[in-house]
Amino acid sequence: MDRPELTQLIAAAVAARQHAYAPYSRFLVGAAVRDEAGRIHAGCNVENAAYPVGTCAEAGALAAMALAGGRCATEAVVVGAGTGLVTPCGGCRQRLREFGVPDMPVHVCDETGRVRRTFTLAELLPESFGPENLA
Ligand code: THU
Repeated sequence: MDRPELTQLIAAAVAARQHAYAPYSRFLVGAAVRDEAGRIHAGCNVENAAYPVGTCAEAGALAAMALAGGRCATEAVVVGAGTGLVTPCGGCRQRLREFGVPDMPVHVCDETGRVRRTFTLAELLPESFGPENLA
């Protein structure tokens, strides 16, 4: 059940993770999203000496997507090491919610790119508040 587009998305997240700037936590994270045009956008976490100012990998990937004109994320990958699953933090779940459809798959991978679990966005952020609420 190999999907070349998923393999590519994962590879982008694994590569992005190599650029993570995480001198404080030493916890490197990579993320990648695919947009409505099929383009892949990646990001890494970028920490800061003023800790709360640091940004997550998912935020970087979504910012890259917005910059490129992408407005709809169809699939996402997060890559990180450790025994626990590197699921998106609460803030990033909401960031993904801004651009993703409820059934968007979010693949949580280890640092080699092996998929550990796949969630839908709605599973990660049920009963969410989004752009439609403001329409
Ligand atoms: N981090 C991410 O970039 N994405 C996640 O999904 C989880 C956490 C980052 C934030 C911080 O730089 C480091 O991982 C440790 O929390």
